[in-house]
Amino acid sequence: MYLRFTKLQNLYKIDIKVLSLLAVKVLLMIIENKIKNVEEIIKKNKILGNKICLIPTMGSLHKGHISLVKEALKMGEMVWVSIFVNPTQFNELDDYEKYPRSLNDDISKLKKLSHKICIFSPSTKEIYTNKVKSDDFDFGFLESIMEGKFRPNHFNGVATIVTKLFEIFIPDYCFFGEKDYQQVVIIKKIIETNFKETKMIICDTIREKNGLAISSRNCFLSKKKFMESAIIYKMLVFARNNINKINFRLLENIIAKKINEISGFELEYLDFRDANSLKKISTINSKKHIRAFICVKVNGIRLIDNIELK
Ligand code: PAJ
Repeated sequence: MYLRFTKLQNLYKIDIKVLSLLAVKVLLMIIENKIKNVEEIIKKNKILGNKICLIPTMGSLHKGHISLVKEALKMGEMVWVSIFVNPTQFNELDDYEKYPRSLNDDISKLKKLSHKICIFSPSTKEIYTNKVKSDDFDFGFLESIMEGKFRPNHFNGVATIVTKLFEIFIPDYCFFGEKDYQQVVIIKKIIETNFKETKMIICDTIREKNGLAISSRNCFLSKKKFMESAIIYKMLVFARNNINKINFRLLENIIAKKINEISGFELEYLDFRDANSLKKISTINSKKHIRAFICVKVNGIRLIDNIELK
């Protein structure tokens, strides 16, 4: 059974704090859409000594998201999943409007995992009031490479919503996927600057059987393009296996050719970068951790992935 928390509160005129404690006891799932109520629940739980785990998502939950939630559940603390398709991180209105949304399915999936999971699914108005606009952050050169370069203002939008969520939850732990590695690096910076008490847990990329990184956008691929998209991870593994044998430029050329020759496929970027700074690397340096980052447009659908090379 899941009910909107606020409705239940209004119906029975129960204090929200009492209701939140009651919910845990009778296995009602907490589903909230009001910031004020969430803040009250969080405050009460913090007083009780409960730690807060937060998993920010844009919903349309898949096995990748679920792996983050499972990781959070292992902590045995209060687990919150936020579900909000954040308009300010989309640089194209069409992309935002077409983004898959399935709140009821998402709730069912989370409920199957555990009744103890709390959900925050606010409206755009609740988050942005009347000004749907991102704040300006300064992430230096990170804004002009890879996702920053091809999606102008994307990281300002991500940073805006993550900051708002962190201000509401003041999480002890937050969970993010390595699949969006550049996002992880950006959020690490936000945490270092403004939320030093929050610990970030970075979770492995969950893949389809054919190796394709699971993404909410995969549902837009035809069966044929889905199968062919296996090439993306295959090429990352190829890069990892050949990093010591072939120079970077040649490796890039081989991979670009293999990808671009498939109909509808277009390599947007393939970069070899330092895993910490994300600075570009052109030769092997034995001391550095190197990752390969890739983005391929498949019939216009952007698919990103990355892998540790060494
Ligand atoms: P979304 O794309 O919904 O992803 C939510 C979280 O799930 C992110 O941390 C993402 O890295 C992780 N994730 C996605 N696919 C994954 C996979 N295949 N394996 C493991 N983890 C995966 O990322 C966002 O939303 C938004 O930018 C957000 C941070 C919520 C801000 O709006």
